[in-house]
Amino acid sequence: MDEYRYFVPAARGLEAVVADELKALQATEVQPQIGGVAFRGSLEAGYRANLWLRSGVRVLLLLKEFQASSADKLYRQALEVPWEKYFHLHKTFAVQANIRDSALRHSHYVALKVKDAIADRFRRVFNRRPDVNTSAPDILINVYLKADHCQLYLDMSGESLHRRGYRTEKGAAPLNEALAAGMLAIAGYTGRQPFVDPMCGAGTLPIEAALIARQIAPGLLRSSFAFQHWRKYDERLWQSLLDEARHRRLLAAPAPIVGSDLQPRVLEIARANARRAGVLQDIRFEQRPLTEARPVGDHGILICNPPYGERLGVEKSLAELYKSIGDLLKQHFKGYTGFVFTGNLNLAKRIGLKPRRRHILYNGPIECRLLEFPIY
Ligand SMILES: C[S@@+](CC[C@H](N)C(=O)[O-])C[C@H]1O[C@@H](n2cnc3c(N)ncnc32)[C@H](O)[C@@H]1O
Repeated sequence: MDEYRYFVPAARGLEAVVADELKALQATEVQPQIGGVAFRGSLEAGYRANLWLRSGVRVLLLLKEFQASSADKLYRQALEVPWEKYFHLHKTFAVQANIRDSALRHSHYVALKVKDAIADRFRRVFNRRPDVNTSAPDILINVYLKADHCQLYLDMSGESLHRRGYRTEKGAAPLNEALAAGMLAIAGYTGRQPFVDPMCGAGTLPIEAALIARQIAPGLLRSSFAFQHWRKYDERLWQSLLDEARHRRLLAAPAPIVGSDLQPRVLEIARANARRAGVLQDIRFEQRPLTEARPVGDHGILICNPPYGERLGVEKSLAELYKSIGDLLKQHFKGYTGFVFTGNLNLAKRIGLKPRRRHILYNGPIECRLLEFPIY
């Protein structure tokens, strides 16, 4: 059985979570790095990662690794890759490059060189070349150039894995699904304890919680992955993994999951999202202010993602809201562990409780904290 080297990019702060997920999926030599996790495994391990990863963003399969100190060297190395073995002439492709500390300074130029090499390679073999499609390519190639060290990857996922397919409507400032799943993992949520999100917006946290609780593979919700366009696509293997995942699903979440919000309009969106995810039956959505949120059983987990007002002037009006989160936890959630996710440390102080831990997580470019408050 062939063994491959893979890399899973992840939001900064979630590398350890993704590493744990991969270890549970037959991946070997799992190595967390900054911004992602490397691992080794069979093609099946790569398929499983695409199907089951909750916090990783995509799965990349390493094709070749080499030194490239100039554009010409990069081109010649890329030309030697047997691209025609990986995909057919009639597929469209695109190349993306990420560069760091490299003599080649422009990622567009690096991508262009590799694109040229691929086109020339096909011309050499077939006298014709595949078309480029930058908006929705069948085949996506990733170039990582760090100083002179170059890695060429085939992207197995295509569209980012956080796009599960259930969230076609968004509330205000929705959380990235992979980030929400990562927070649940950091919180130690297994699906067997009660879960409450008193500011649930479009419902991302309760929906991800329900997917975990019912052991639903996030990939079951998606219609396609880039590896399905590959020449080596093993449809039988993929179908068998889908069947296995369908059989693993529990009929219902073992413990209560509640999402509430002040705004009726966002709750409508949350319900529609949950319905599309197939977990509406598992979540109680309620319209109520934060101050009226209550536990739904003992020793549960509460996570909330209050607005954090990047705009000036908003901060003042939010101070009261943050204070009421602290009051709510103290007065009503004894025995729970509360988590508040925010990008505003000034506002976080208003909660008035001492966090046991502060987990640093990036919400896109914004450095945020997931603050952990055990309520005794
Ligand atoms: C940043 S959004 C949460 C986004 C959510 N995590 C998602 O993925 O869609 C904050 C939410 O808090 C809600 N909210 C603001 N003040 C509230 C209050 N006093 N009580 C309850 N919900 C409130 C807003 O309606 C909004 O949906």
